[in-house]
Amino acid sequence: MTKSSKVLIATIVCMLLTGFVFASPLLQLFYHDAKPFKFFGYQFAAEFEPIVIASVKDVPEGTGHSFSVKLDLPFAGPQYVRQDIYGIIANVDGEFHAYSAVCPHLGCIVRWDEEKDPEQRIWCNCHNGAFNPTTGEVTAGPPPRGLPVYSIKVEGDDIYLESTEEGGE
Ligand code: FES
Repeated sequence: MTKSSKVLIATIVCMLLTGFVFASPLLQLFYHDAKPFKFFGYQFAAEFEPIVIASVKDVPEGTGHSFSVKLDLPFAGPQYVRQDIYGIIANVDGEFHAYSAVCPHLGCIVRWDEEKDPEQRIWCNCHNGAFNPTTGEVTAGPPPRGLPVYSIKVEGDDIYLESTEEGGE
C-alpha cells in the first residue's frame, strides 16, 4: 500500500468519525428516546420484558451477586443489537439493590468483596474504586460518579431485571 493511499484511508476514516459526531444530534430529532451518551453517539431507552437475573437464594442477606444477561437493545434508531449486560445485586438488610457492574472510571467490571468495609463492598480492582451497596455511590477511589441503578423486582424465588434505567419505565 502506497503512502498516499494510507493517507487517503486515514482521511476517510476521520471524515466518517467527524460526520457521525455531528450527525448524532440529527438522529435525536427522529428518535426521541435517544439520549446523549458520552462524547459521541446515543444511548437508546432500553425496553424489554422483565428477565430473571438471579434466584433469591443466590443473594443471602449481607452478600452481593454478579450477573450477566443478554438483551436485544435498540441501537442506532430502529436497529437492535444483542448486548451483554453486566450487573451486581446487593442484599442489604433484606432489601435488594441492583447496579450496572461496569465501573464508571475506565470500564472494568466491579465485584462483591466481603473483606471490605460495609460501605465499600462493591469494589473495582482496577484502581481500587469502591461503591456503597445501598446506593451505588462512590465511597473510594477515582470513579467520577456512582454506578447506574437498575430497576428490579422480586417475584416468588426469582429476581427480575425490569429496566436498566433508574426507577424503571
Ligand atoms: S476502572 Fe474502576 S476504579 Fe478504575
